Amino acid sequence: MPEKSEDLLAVAVRIAREAAATARRMRAEAINDVETKSTDTDVVTAADKAVERQVVEVLRVERPGDGVLGEEYGDTTSTGAVRWILDPIDGTVNYLYGLPQYAVSLAAEVEGAVVAGVVHNAATGDEWTATLGGGAWRDGRRLGGSGRTTLDQALVGTGFGYDAARRAHQGAVLAGLITRVRDIRRFGAASLDLCMAAEGSLDAYFEKGLNPWDHAAGGLVAAEAGLLVSGLDGAPAGQHMLVAAPPAIFPALHDVLVELDAAGGP
Ligand code: IPD
Repeated sequence: MPEKSEDLLAVAVRIAREAAATARRMRAEAINDVETKSTDTDVVTAADKAVERQVVEVLRVERPGDGVLGEEYGDTTSTGAVRWILDPIDGTVNYLYGLPQYAVSLAAEVEGAVVAGVVHNAATGDEWTATLGGGAWRDGRRLGGSGRTTLDQALVGTGFGYDAARRAHQGAVLAGLITRVRDIRRFGAASLDLCMAAEGSLDAYFEKGLNPWDHAAGGLVAAEAGLLVSGLDGAPAGQHMLVAAPPAIFPALHDVLVELDAAGGP
């Protein structure tokens, strides 16, 4: 009998809250222990690693058959149907600078489909959850996205990769887009951006280059809030592009991003 997504969500929420507490508690010491990854600006703190180890350890004890795909240590093997997708601290640069926009993002995937997800802002305690078919929620409030209907009135969130060549392309896309929307926001944590789009504090969000741990939980929250979440030209959301927007705005944003070759470049 397959597990209920509500039960997987309950596990995810409990573990994400404990993980967020560790991230918060460790911040003062963690930001003195910083390494770089793909580029000099792509940082990983001691807390990113400690939080991931904590989550993997809890899951290994409580749910020994499950796999875990985490940002810092990659994929563990599994014998069961469930794989957890974890970003221990999404928004690591914000964490480093003490900006209150960093989150633990944890999703449960069953046979390739994300069925439950939680995004917990570790700085503020704000939390967004969703289950497949069960809606998206924040503090007991069901989320329904923005009611905005035109792109030129839309506040659009986005983000940038760490590689300079990719950023140059992303900057050029932004230069083409900014005259066609209300404004652009870059908060620095993709999972939170998706949750903000889900609750309508952004009208839409897009980014090229996201990894599964950046968008697994937040993407479900956005989709369950009624947003369309996909790549361009019918491709699934992924490394090339993720666009999350209410159905009224999605086609116009999609078409501008295609015109600007937003999924192209390095
Ligand atoms: C990053 C953040 C950022 C996004 C980058 C991600 P990290 O994740 O989500 O907002 O623009 O693409 O890599 O490195 O803070 O876990």
